[in-house]
Amino acid sequence: MLKKTPIAAGIAALATIFIAGGCAVADADKSNAVDYTAMTPEELAEHLIFEANGFVLDQEVQEGGTTRQRMVQDDLHKACSVIGGGDPDQETLEAVRAAAAESIVYPEGGIELGDWERGRELAWSGFGYRVGHKTDDHSARDVGGNCYNCHQLATDRTGGNLGPSLTGYGKTRGTSEAMLKYAYDMIYNPHVYFPCTNMPRFGHSGFLDEQAIADIMAYMFDPESPVNE
Ligand code: HEC
Repeated sequence: MLKKTPIAAGIAALATIFIAGGCAVADADKSNAVDYTAMTPEELAEHLIFEANGFVLDQEVQEGGTTRQRMVQDDLHKACSVIGGGDPDQETLEAVRAAAAESIVYPEGGIELGDWERGRELAWSGFGYRVGHKTDDHSARDVGGNCYNCHQLATDRTGGNLGPSLTGYGKTRGTSEAMLKYAYDMIYNPHVYFPCTNMPRFGHSGFLDEQAIADIMAYMFDPESPVNE
């Protein structure tokens, strides 16, 4: 098991003092006797995730390890969390961008478009790497890209608006080599163009493999695809 973060450990220590000192809130379950009002929002978030037993943290996840291990931030999360959702300073921006560029692996034969019909299903599907009461079984179903959760693509399906609309993407942007590389990079690791973006790193995280990226790109660029109607 991983070590608790200093903040979570501090909160646990605080809880112990409360209980040991006999000043826990009356009638409250003593194991949960923590004074929320004394916490900063960050401390409260850490407490709720790591200490309050709301999440099943020892559940196994598909990439190996446990949910608790998945919660541990990698270097990019840390760099982007420090700025607290604001705009990255120049130094963070350059470091995040450089690390993202280095992470991108290109297909041996160059970037090509795959099968837009499979891409359509993958762009729609949110299946894969989920944890909760039941983990996703990757042997039974392909991992999707969940693009519609944040983007509108073809208009025959309803998309989200956390990201910009990608309707008519291939028709308006064309299929030059530079354009295909940009789209590939965006799907593989978007921090290369948008440091600290909310868009996931699908290639870098291993959620989408080379074929899945090619198929989703076909869905975005193929003139036959409903995205370009
Ligand atoms: C969690 C939300 C989220 C998901 C899921 C997501 N994106 Fe994005 N995407 C964004 C955001 C936000 C931006 C805009 C960049 C920014 O401002 O951070 C973006 C930008 C893009 C762009 C660049 C847009 C342009 O104008 O050139 C492309 C291409 C893109 N996404 C493709 C995809 C594809 C394909 C998928 C699915 C495999 C996907 N996105 C899934 C949030 C998301």
